Amino acid sequence: MKGIILAGGAGSRLFPLTLVASKQLQPVYDKPMVYYPLTTLVEGGIREFCLISTPHDLPRFRQLLGDGSAWGLRIDYREQSKPSGIAEAFLIAESFIGKDPVTLILGDNIFYGGDSFHKAFADFQGGATIFGYHVNDPERYGVVEFDAKGQAISIEEKPAQPRSNYAVPGLYIFDNEVVAVTKALKPSPRGELEITDVNVDYLRRGRLRVHRLNRGFAWLDAGTSSSLHEASAYVQTIEKRQGVKVGCPEEAAFRQGFLSREQLEALTVNLPRCEYRTYLENVVAEANRLAQES
Ligand code: DAU
Repeated sequence: MKGIILAGGAGSRLFPLTLVASKQLQPVYDKPMVYYPLTTLVEGGIREFCLISTPHDLPRFRQLLGDGSAWGLRIDYREQSKPSGIAEAFLIAESFIGKDPVTLILGDNIFYGGDSFHKAFADFQGGATIFGYHVNDPERYGVVEFDAKGQAISIEEKPAQPRSNYAVPGLYIFDNEVVAVTKALKPSPRGELEITDVNVDYLRRGRLRVHRLNRGFAWLDAGTSSSLHEASAYVQTIEKRQGVKVGCPEEAAFRQGFLSREQLEALTVNLPRCEYRTYLENVVAEANRLAQES
């Protein structure tokens, strides 16, 4: 499974914050936003990534994440010259995807809790898998409707009259056909290649699975100033209470076995003295203790 992180867009809703740094580089409490979706995919076992952003912002992502090798990952970069739609990611990343299945995650979607994604990646056998999440304001999202048996029967993009309260979060798993499906799409009236049209294509062909995410799962959207602030407050609350970090790619890579204990330790000692380093030092110390006991 390969991973695409889509981190472009105009960023206009966060202006003037986005004048010099794109939305997905903004802080969500103690880390840049893009750390969260990256960590979500690493926790799901994905190691190879393509990050797509604007020509203006791409150099900053490169500066932040490098080629991924320090974290046991591979990160490629591709430009999206203008925001022509989320589904365009599959065309831009076609050579990166190659013959593999692919997960697309939006760079401003923050997920926390449970192992639903991990399971979905492990169980994925073709077609498409997307998710449904109960929200108060479904009209802001792609909306999925279920029948009495729990089967998805319709998906609409930002409907004025939503048929359910289930929004489709920005994490989508597709088989390799997604590239061909996207090539056959026509831009929507707003001039974009819509991810919802891709999902509808899979639904029509009986190739779409929709998992409902349960209540214990958090999906935060950081696309407006208020939701960005709320996401920061949420992460702060969890981190303070539990003493664990949300969205820490180094830790996720270590727990997935992409980094050895020695590699994590070597990486940690090179960080500046800060709370993030102390956290990783504790992860290493705990791992060393467990290794000695076993
Ligand atoms: O957050 C989930 C929702 O994301 C889904 O429920 C919707 O079905 C989906 O269309 C999308 O809705 P948004 O209104 O949030 O889409 P937006 O145009 O804001 O783009 C989402 C992110 O993707 C944003 O961080 C910018 C980035 N993006 C978007 C477009 C259209 C790109 O990088 N390039 C693009 O061309």
